[in-house]
Amino acid sequence: MSNETKACRHVAIIMDGNGRWAKAQGKPRTAGHLVGADNVRTIAIAASELGVEYLTLYAFSTENWKRSEDEVNYIMKLPKIFFGKYMKEFIERGYRMRMIGELDRLPKETKRVLDDAVEQSKNNTGLNLSIAINYGSQRELVLAAERYAKDVKDGKIGLDISNEEFEQYLMTADMPNVDLLIRTSGELRISNYLLWQIAYAELEFVPEAWPEFTPEVLERCIRNFGNRDRRFGGVKNE
Ligand code: IPE
Ligand code: IPE
Ligand code: MG
Repeated sequence: MSNETKACRHVAIIMDGNGRWAKAQGKPRTAGHLVGADNVRTIAIAASELGVEYLTLYAFSTENWKRSEDEVNYIMKLPKIFFGKYMKEFIERGYRMRMIGELDRLPKETKRVLDDAVEQSKNNTGLNLSIAINYGSQRELVLAAERYAKDVKDGKIGLDISNEEFEQYLMTADMPNVDLLIRTSGELRISNYLLWQIAYAELEFVPEAWPEFTPEVLERCIRNFGNRDRRFGGVKNE
């Protein structure tokens, strides 16, 4: 197997279990989100040191608006706290911040903070740290189809396109597809995350809640990935 198929370039994580982790300690769910946000820094550094080029983290889904107003409001305030603490360090480390999701529907101040992080780090060439916020994969695919249809109507592109051409309409345009998808806290589902991009990803479901997901657990997941036999529909090389 070539190094290229073994390389773990793009890791995506469904950061689940903040609320249950906090509850188990007698704390409000929001306390779990705060510790969870700090863990984003820890895991970003670990991922970068392990050679990961793209780390794409699920922070808030298009379905998470169903939660209590208090919880949603708290989560929407977290980017300001998070980037206030860590943006300087991320810039120094050369990380490039990216966002996927419908940012236009976020509170104005939240969107401003996120846009600012992207803008400040846009020329960096280190880890691509993407945050999925108000992200839903089904929504992403519908929006991609709408934009493609418009381009066809405007005569910019033909009706007969390749998978790679279609990918340019996704929010992850110009990122490689996901090599390894990790979900924390023991749930065995995808919850509308990167459905197209994980077509051939290897999957890891770990019991730890996101606040207790350590660099050691990440390393173990990446080691497991290295021992997998990725065939992409082909036949195993003897
Ligand atoms: C993940 O943790 C963070 C978000 C979805 C915003 P949860 O908030 O889903 O925590 P649990 O799964 O309820 O424990
Ligand atoms: C998925 O977690 C979304 C994020 C981690 C942001 P959820 O907690 O929302 O997923 P379900 O509801 O358990 O499927
Ligand atoms: Mg959850």
